[in-house]
Amino acid sequence: MEKMKDGQGDKMSFVTCYLMFCVSTAVIGSLQFGFNTGVINAPDMKVQNFIRNVSLERTGEPMDESTLTTVWSVTVSIFNVGGMIGSLSVGTLVDKLGRRKSMLLSNILALIGGLLMGLSKLCNSYELIIVGRLVIGAFCGLCTGLTPMFVGEIAPTALRGAFGTLHQLGVVIGILIAQILGLESLLGSQSLWPLLLALTAVPAVLQSIMLIFCPESPRYLLITLNQEDEARQVLIRLRGYSDVEDDIREMKEEAMKMSMEKKVSIPELFRNSAYRQPIIIAIVLQLSQQLSGINAVIYYSTEIFRNAGITEPVFATIGVGAVNTLFTVISLFLVERAGRRTLHMIGLAGMAVCTLLMTISLGLVDSARKAAESTANVTAISDPASAGGTSAISILAILAVFGFVASFEMGPGPIPWFIVAELFAQGPRPAAIAVAGCCNWTASFLVGLLFPKLLKLCDAYVFIIFLILLIIFFVFTYFRVPETKGRTFEDIASGFSNAAGSSATNYTSPEGAITMPVSPTSDKIQM
Ligand code: GLC
Repeated sequence: MEKMKDGQGDKMSFVTCYLMFCVSTAVIGSLQFGFNTGVINAPDMKVQNFIRNVSLERTGEPMDESTLTTVWSVTVSIFNVGGMIGSLSVGTLVDKLGRRKSMLLSNILALIGGLLMGLSKLCNSYELIIVGRLVIGAFCGLCTGLTPMFVGEIAPTALRGAFGTLHQLGVVIGILIAQILGLESLLGSQSLWPLLLALTAVPAVLQSIMLIFCPESPRYLLITLNQEDEARQVLIRLRGYSDVEDDIREMKEEAMKMSMEKKVSIPELFRNSAYRQPIIIAIVLQLSQQLSGINAVIYYSTEIFRNAGITEPVFATIGVGAVNTLFTVISLFLVERAGRRTLHMIGLAGMAVCTLLMTISLGLVDSARKAAESTANVTAISDPASAGGTSAISILAILAVFGFVASFEMGPGPIPWFIVAELFAQGPRPAAIAVAGCCNWTASFLVGLLFPKLLKLCDAYVFIIFLILLIIFFVFTYFRVPETKGRTFEDIASGFSNAAGSSATNYTSPEGAITMPVSPTSDKIQM
């Protein structure tokens, strides 16, 4: 995040309606990512029943539970395979077509994906849902690159950080919308769930229409296409004043720096010792976001709540979305005060505590259920909430899940998305963002694929796996992640180069204060 230049604050933070219109247009992409992440959760039972029925009709035999679990896991997690492909394609697409046309074109994928899923019931084919989720995943992979890029490039310098966090806010609002529309009384019913899955086509059409009125990114015009006059015209409209020479000068400087810095390839990120430490940090932070288990909760909260004996699990799932949104807003205000490293550690620690509470409460519900099973009264066991005192434990389970999600949005949610850009200078940044994005989607894929099987295998104790991982990520963040708040890109990057050159290098940040080792055995460096 670049610092505001002295004396230009008012001008540089001036927000016009046109700028807000363009940002809102792009953030529809974040909403789409969130919507499609959350949409499969609420109607889970209906879609699974549909899969069962299709198979019964085709083979004349009921599908066995383990095959159903596999088909269902693939349906949920193939979205992430698409995401991996999409996130890796962003760089090539934007360089060839520019930001605006890439967003326009990506919406074709949303239309195709939505159509496939919407027609699944009509065509009596659950395969259409699977293919549709793959296509939608590729679309969302593109969105996770395109939206932050376009928003960052049109935002005034002084507001680039605040605008950047709108991406995660868009994501969590998208999840919430999916959870609300997924209610049985709205679109989550037996007959309407295909419409719910197809609904992603509506924002795609809306964004395409809005994009007609948006400009190409001025940075792309000037830095990539060398069209200075066009870039100036766009900037004048976005900023609402005619003296945009500061922005033009800053872009020219960036263009010059880019032409001087070598373009770094992905293998080089791992070969060159100056990049090795930041790329490891970037990857581990992405892993800490996904392997924290957040999407186990986002995808499967309805099932978790059902297991906890909650009679209306869908409403508890909507509560998750609301808490998610609220705490993302809170973190917007905290991130520039508390710093990235501190917030990330607070978030991970909070998640670990809540994971422990979740395990205890789900474990107690489980034992209550088993105890009831061993008694003669078989009717009591079908409703765990009625098994003596379980409802209080169910409330503890809900609170633990809410706390888990709230802690996630304090740090592990928003921070990994933007810290990668802060850890690298102009040259290696695109390659680093591609690697980090792909790791994020891959880890999310693994969680989506393995969680239902692990849940069946380990029951209530499945979250212990995430607890162990959370502790590992906390220790890593404590020892390895530098504070980037208030530091320039050059300062951060040169800190890493120095550390690669000598094992005992002193970093000095404007914030000063935090002391930590480069490696557990090396001397301390001051961040
Ligand atoms: C982040 C994650 C995404 C998750 C969401 C939950 O954006 O990347 O996978 O679903 O947060 O809020």
